[in-house]
Amino acid sequence: MQASLDQKYNFEVVKWFTVASVIYLVVGTLVGVYIASELAWPVLNFNTAELSFGRLRPLHTNAVIFAFGGCALMATSFYSVQRTCGVKLWSDKLAWFVFWGWNAIIVSAVITLPLGMTSGKEYAELEWPIDIAIAIVWLAYGLNFTMTIATRKTSHIYVSNWFFLSMIVMITYLHVVNSLAIPVSAFNSYSVFSGVQDAMIQWWWGHNAVGFYLTAGFLGIMYYFVPKQAGRPVFSYRLSVIHFWALSFGYVWLGAHHLQYTALPDWTGSLGAAVSLAMIIPSWGGAVNGMMTLSGAWDKLRTDYVLRFLIISLAFYAMSTFEGPVMSAKTVNALSHYTDWTIGHVHSGALGWVAMVAAGALYHMVMRLWNTEMYSAKLVNLHFWLATVGAVIYIIAMWVSGIMQGLMWRDYDEFGTLTYTFAESVAAMHPYYAMRAVGGMIYWLGGAIMLYNVVMTIRQASRASESSPAAAAA
Ligand code: HEM
Ligand code: HEM
Repeated sequence: MQASLDQKYNFEVVKWFTVASVIYLVVGTLVGVYIASELAWPVLNFNTAELSFGRLRPLHTNAVIFAFGGCALMATSFYSVQRTCGVKLWSDKLAWFVFWGWNAIIVSAVITLPLGMTSGKEYAELEWPIDIAIAIVWLAYGLNFTMTIATRKTSHIYVSNWFFLSMIVMITYLHVVNSLAIPVSAFNSYSVFSGVQDAMIQWWWGHNAVGFYLTAGFLGIMYYFVPKQAGRPVFSYRLSVIHFWALSFGYVWLGAHHLQYTALPDWTGSLGAAVSLAMIIPSWGGAVNGMMTLSGAWDKLRTDYVLRFLIISLAFYAMSTFEGPVMSAKTVNALSHYTDWTIGHVHSGALGWVAMVAAGALYHMVMRLWNTEMYSAKLVNLHFWLATVGAVIYIIAMWVSGIMQGLMWRDYDEFGTLTYTFAESVAAMHPYYAMRAVGGMIYWLGGAIMLYNVVMTIRQASRASESSPAAAAA
């Protein structure tokens, strides 16, 4: 059975992306724990530029978003597109090119970012030669994915593929436009945009990296893996189609909510806030659609730990897509902007939604790709609790410190003088920064346990096929 599936589909490249993704989760969150600890205990900077918070922060964001998130998206999309279309990947060679190309880009990020080579654009820090490489590899990925759909044996295109497609199309042009730059040397360039236009383009990219990469892509994962793991069809297919179109048309308008009270015309911020508020509807529609897929089978959550990851991720998704629109309102943003509240919001989306839904999908795939049960179901459960508890500690620490920061900065006495100096607000953050570091360590431990469990599962599967090749081929 497994042998015939291996012949019918190209699972080899999916396996490599799967393992790479788990490794990058552990590495990326370890760098997160380190920079969180640097903020709590600055001595960890060791007076060394390459280890300083400023250099390692983009390494963390690139490692978790593009290395972990990218490999998870490529593994899950290449897996599910084959299963939903009933065909092999269009080109095996191109799939391997994407795997090695993407990993070469990750290695170049690991070298250049600590050396301080950066374009200075958030989530787009890599310099122009690497930007060109990203465009080529991403196009190769998009071409392979699209052509696999074009050669499908099924009559219609399942909704998860629509979400992956919208991510591929949007990220292509967002990346290309935002990265347009004039090179001045091999590793230095200047953006073709300047001033307020540069800020607008940067946050048009920045928000849509969130909207299409961290949201639409991971919704593609949700729409395939939640029904599969639950063994039930998606609650409402019609709602998923409405979710898709509302999300795709809504997200592109939101970038300006990152630039409230700046040189940008006031109406752009208002437009960003208004559409942000409207985005609660499709986001919650999608979250409810995923959760209700379990209706009539909620008892499965008691025993199926993988399903727990998938369902709790939707609760975090609902929470962060409620919080985001609230933060986009100008009055709230006047308090939250520049504070740790934003960091708390980011990580409720990142730790709770993105990394949890990905972990659920990766566990699901590991069992099917290697045709075995997980080495230890108990360890999956332990990972689930460590991830949930770690994320909650992280988010609560940032909510408290963020709101406190905002209130301290704006507080003034009867003479109109600021009550607190900036240094006093920094000192007040210390306990919360320590608490965030501890939450991060707990979260990281969960990921490390996942890596151990995955490695042991693969070893168990290869031992089984060695001892009984006939059974494995049957
Ligand atoms: C153990 C887990 C993690 C820890 C301890 C951690 C820690 C941190 C820290 C300390 C920062 C810098 C905050 C600041 O500048 O004040 C940060 C930023 C960031 N992290 Fe994490 N992180 C973790 C996991 C993740 C994951 C899994 C993702 C994404 C999937 C992620 C995405 C981000 C992003 C996007 C930012 C930039 C936020 C902004 O600019 O507003 N992190 N993280
Ligand atoms: C309807 C959905 C959402 C809306 C309307 C929204 C809105 C916002 C707002 C208003 C900010 C703060 C902007 C600022 O003051 O600078 C923000 C920051 C951020 N959000 Fe969301 N959010 C949503 C969902 C999410 C999700 C699901 C994730 C993660 C997967 C996420 C990731 C981020 C990141 C990474 C930032 C920080 C950007 C930066 O400053 O570096 N958001 N979001």
